[in-house]
Amino acid sequence: MFQLLKPFLLFIISYVFWKVYINSKHGRTNINLPPGSFGWPFIGETLAFLRAGWDGVPERFIQERTEKHGSPLVFKTSLLGDRMAVLCGPAGNKFLFGNENKLVTLWWPASVRKLFERCLITVRGDEAKLMRKMMLSYLGPDAFVNHYAATMDALTRRHIQLHWRGKEEVNVYQTVKVYAFELACRLFMSLEDPNHITKLGSLFNIFLKGMVELPIDIPGTRFYKSKRAAAAIRTELMTIIKTRRVELQEGKASSSQDLLSHFLCSPNENNKYLSEMEIANNILLLLFAGHDTSTVSITLVMKKLSEHPDIYEKVLREQLEISKEIEDGGLLKWEDIQKMKYTWNVVSEVMRLNPPVLGAFREALVDFEYAGYIIPKGWKLYWSAAWTHKDEANFEDVTRFDPSRFEGVGPTPYTYVPFGGGTRMCLGKEFSRMEVLAFLHNIVTIFKWDLLIPDEKIVYEPMATPASGLPVRLNPHRV
Ligand code: HEM
Repeated sequence: MFQLLKPFLLFIISYVFWKVYINSKHGRTNINLPPGSFGWPFIGETLAFLRAGWDGVPERFIQERTEKHGSPLVFKTSLLGDRMAVLCGPAGNKFLFGNENKLVTLWWPASVRKLFERCLITVRGDEAKLMRKMMLSYLGPDAFVNHYAATMDALTRRHIQLHWRGKEEVNVYQTVKVYAFELACRLFMSLEDPNHITKLGSLFNIFLKGMVELPIDIPGTRFYKSKRAAAAIRTELMTIIKTRRVELQEGKASSSQDLLSHFLCSPNENNKYLSEMEIANNILLLLFAGHDTSTVSITLVMKKLSEHPDIYEKVLREQLEISKEIEDGGLLKWEDIQKMKYTWNVVSEVMRLNPPVLGAFREALVDFEYAGYIIPKGWKLYWSAAWTHKDEANFEDVTRFDPSRFEGVGPTPYTYVPFGGGTRMCLGKEFSRMEVLAFLHNIVTIFKWDLLIPDEKIVYEPMATPASGLPVRLNPHRV
């Protein structure tokens, strides 16, 4: 009998210990914490959080808890082994975006910190400010006026020529993933060799799988494999960095040719250069941050355009107008991208309904009060684009696909936050805008397409992806 009950008893005992541990940490049991539950020992409410994403409704995790605890602004939980306060809706977003380095600071789960090592998302305070500023001078809006549009257009055309033209059927997600990775490798490091890019890409896919896992570094776990893949990518990147340093010294490479040269030649405001390992880690970060996000945006826009032929026609009309202005054999310019207003409204509405990044984390630097509750120092915080975008309070007829929401002044501040906000806002916003628009310009002016799986389910793992990768049948326009 005892043998039968043993697992159950062990579970109860560990649960009680967990609760005592949670309540006693910091030695404070009587402070006014937000309502909510820390869930199960160790895993907390992580499974419910992940399951909502697997079921294609990531907002459900927050909706259920705000209703259950009767607290629409904030509730407590425990995710990925950490106690956490979830700040809900525009008020929470405004608070977290506006208090970076004052009350809160950027935080990522242990798996992410261990995989990326020292780079922009793992440094804090003034060091993060200096690193970000240096990176923004290459990736920020000003850098885009003169760079990129033509190169992105040329690379997009080549990709479509190789991977789309002449094909009857294509798996959009898989194919666009190749595109986004090649584009990033080319623009960040001038990599051209397809074999080299494919090798890096395969390592990258293993690396990505360990991102949202418990950091258990023993053979067989996804995290273990991911860590080894990250080490192999770093080794490759270090070789590329050292070769480039020599090429720069010998005058065989230019200081403005790509992000890598920029990192090697541009010091920060304190005249300090990044170490070679910091450069490798930051390139790893940018390859990660930039390739699945743009891939899912393009994939989901293509899904919506096929489901809404009237909207496809409007996008096509806008893009054909732009094509007419481009001289024969010419490439897209920055000004052309600026004219793609309707197409960008469509992309924005897709990102509202399915934000590529569901939300992000912060850590409390001090005890502070929020909505009448105390958030203790050291607690983690979470803001959610998924919930803010799907709350009826922020968007009328919230589930309707309607790009016109973005006309005129657009949504109320802090209700639409696919790129985050404040001083930690996405560093690649301009880059991804140009990449997504350059791709759409080329694809809609060449093809229309039919979905091979109508109503294909979207799952979040953790990024929004059609369950089978969106297979489509291509119908080239008759010329
Ligand atoms: C549709 C595409 C994209 C979306 C929706 C997106 C969204 C986001 C979000 C929500 C954050 C977190 C902000 C926070 O912590 O509050 C972020 C951070 C970041 N993103 Fe993006 N991103 C996209 C594309 C890109 C691209 C193309 C790049 C690189 C070229 C990039 C680089 C970064 C970096 C480096 C950070 C960290 C910034 C920091 O911590 O200071 N992202 N992004």
